[in-house]
Amino acid sequence: MNFLVVGGAGYIGSVVVGELVRSRRSAIILDDLSTGHRDAVAPLAYLIEGGLNDPAKLREAFTTKEIDCVIHLAARSIVAESVGDAAGYRTANVELPIRLLEAMREHGVRDIIFSSSAAVYDAGAPMPLHERSAVKPSNPYGATKLEFEQILRERTALGEIRHVTLRYFNVAGASIDWGEDHRGETHLIPLLIDAALGARGPVPIYGTDYPTPDGTAVRDYVHVVDVAEAHLRAARYLAEGGESATLNLGSDRGASVREVVRAVERVTGRGVPTVDSPRRAGDPPVLIASSGEARRVLGWRPQFGELDAMIETAWEWRRRFPEGYKA
Ligand SMILES: NC(=O)c1ccc[n+]([C@@H]2O[C@H](COP(=O)([O-])OP(=O)(O)OC[C@H]3O[C@@H](n4cnc5c(N)ncnc54)[C@H](O)[C@@H]3O)[C@@H](O)[C@H]2O)c1
Repeated sequence: MNFLVVGGAGYIGSVVVGELVRSRRSAIILDDLSTGHRDAVAPLAYLIEGGLNDPAKLREAFTTKEIDCVIHLAARSIVAESVGDAAGYRTANVELPIRLLEAMREHGVRDIIFSSSAAVYDAGAPMPLHERSAVKPSNPYGATKLEFEQILRERTALGEIRHVTLRYFNVAGASIDWGEDHRGETHLIPLLIDAALGARGPVPIYGTDYPTPDGTAVRDYVHVVDVAEAHLRAARYLAEGGESATLNLGSDRGASVREVVRAVERVTGRGVPTVDSPRRAGDPPVLIASSGEARRVLGWRPQFGELDAMIETAWEWRRRFPEGYKA
């Protein structure tokens, strides 16, 4: 099978592409490298450097090889940033991806796997969150994900496409070769690892007065290799005629920010400086998945359940690549 992976030079995309190549699928990547890295692309994959806003690059992406399935991971995805730039987020996460759907139609490609997020849910809904739990994004980022999900459902109803939407919870860890390296990192685990290494100052803990056992926000961490594996299964599922579906990907358990800090201290054997800070706009107190549907529909069996094991892989990767990606 030939895959077009949009955003394949990013954190999750690099691991997805790594797994595709390892299982002898061919991967064309379209990535503008706005937050991704040339060095994050597996040597056997083919990178087209360009964005969804560039019609010539989009055409090249669909004509270099006959594409069987599109994996769409490209997005702007910083919750706090989205609060101040809702219009920019809508352009990046809804309007540009519509051009991807147009290109799929033009080139006769029907199957798409879309990276959605736990941010679509109503944070006031009872936990754990099922796919049928109420949706009500707490921030513009989540609103853009929900809007594009809806567009996929509409086009599926018209018979134009078939889709699997994967609602990731907090993706963590690394594969042997590919890991997380964002300029201006906002994700908790890499920030804590940096702080453990003395590469940055104290990590702010945003919100210590949430209605949670220790007052800090609770999230569900899922390993990036397990997330990548779900994409391969979703592609096979669609190719075998499976019905379009929306599925959570999480580990079905929550960890508070302070629990993650302690886990990073255990794994690294180092102290991690933190500083208690006010809540951040758009951050819900608790998000925990129920991923039973992904297990049932895709036969997905995550290998990593324990937070410490996930953090170990991020720590390992960071020790192998202390400076992250060069390019
Ligand atoms: N990391 C998480 O925990 C998490 C959780 C839920 C959902 N998601 C979603 O998963 C996807 C991947 O997340 P990530 O953490 O790997 O992010 P990332 O920023 O590392 O990767 C996104 C990639 O898309 C590329 N890109 C962005 N806009 C583009 C455009 N217009 N055209 C071409 N390429 C473009 C970037 O250069 C980057 O390589 C995103 O859609 C994100 O919203 C991530």
